[in-house]
Amino acid sequence: MRVVRTITELRQALAGAKPAAFVPTMGNLHEGHLALAKLAREQGGPVVASIFVNRLQFAPHEDFERYPRTLERDCERLQSVGCNLVFAPDETALYPEPQTFKVVPPAELADTLEGEFRPGFFTGVCTVVMKLFQCVQPRLAVFGKKDYQQLLVLRRMVRQFELPIDVDAGETARADDGLALSSRNAYLSQAERAEAPRLASTLRGVQARLKDGARDVAALEAQALQSLRERSWVPDYVAVRRRSDLQPPSAEQVAVGEPLVVLAAAKLGNTRLIDNLEI
Ligand code: PAF
Repeated sequence: MRVVRTITELRQALAGAKPAAFVPTMGNLHEGHLALAKLAREQGGPVVASIFVNRLQFAPHEDFERYPRTLERDCERLQSVGCNLVFAPDETALYPEPQTFKVVPPAELADTLEGEFRPGFFTGVCTVVMKLFQCVQPRLAVFGKKDYQQLLVLRRMVRQFELPIDVDAGETARADDGLALSSRNAYLSQAERAEAPRLASTLRGVQARLKDGARDVAALEAQALQSLRERSWVPDYVAVRRRSDLQPPSAEQVAVGEPLVVLAAAKLGNTRLIDNLEI
């Protein structure tokens, strides 16, 4: 497995090779990322991963500076699952001049849920992913369902720009107690880590009630928020949405079994966790 640090080196390494399956990451890799790399490997061609903590998708008060950077261990892990090439640029290699051209996703998809609480987040994500796509020119890209809204936004970006790239989605990897794996779990204290699975169990509760025929989505969301607050969480949202476009479903759509997803974001101490479950 080769590790390259500049766009020039990347292009040289890719020259003449078959188009790759690509796994963009911000590093601090866990089993969820490795599952995405394994999914990429199943496509048969070369597998390229990127490791880049993208300042553009962090607000000034967020955790850009302290985001865990563990390049050496990440590379060992990627090698162990058959990755062929890692692109790990530093900031000046990917953004040699300020990245003032941006890819701005549509408000109806990107200003709700995560976008409401992290303004500009999806513009940062779309901009870096578009740029990484230009550098790697993959035929397939793999993203995790853990970042459900990101996956939808990026699928639509690929569709609207007619990028010749298939997008595959990997299931959310979970610890035995149900907590969705995330690089940010590293911030949790021991007591917070013990409490953290409650986010997933709250979502499972909403999922079970809907499967049992509950129809009042607003009441389910309010109960879920309340139960998190009672355990000292500070939730941003718990929302039942249509899988297709992340808009709220009508009562009739809930009744006729429109494919739904319940999504949540909440702070536990200083750590903001997100999770979702398809219904
Ligand atoms: O999901 C992530 O890790 C990031 O948002 C991504 C897609 C690598 C873009 O920086």
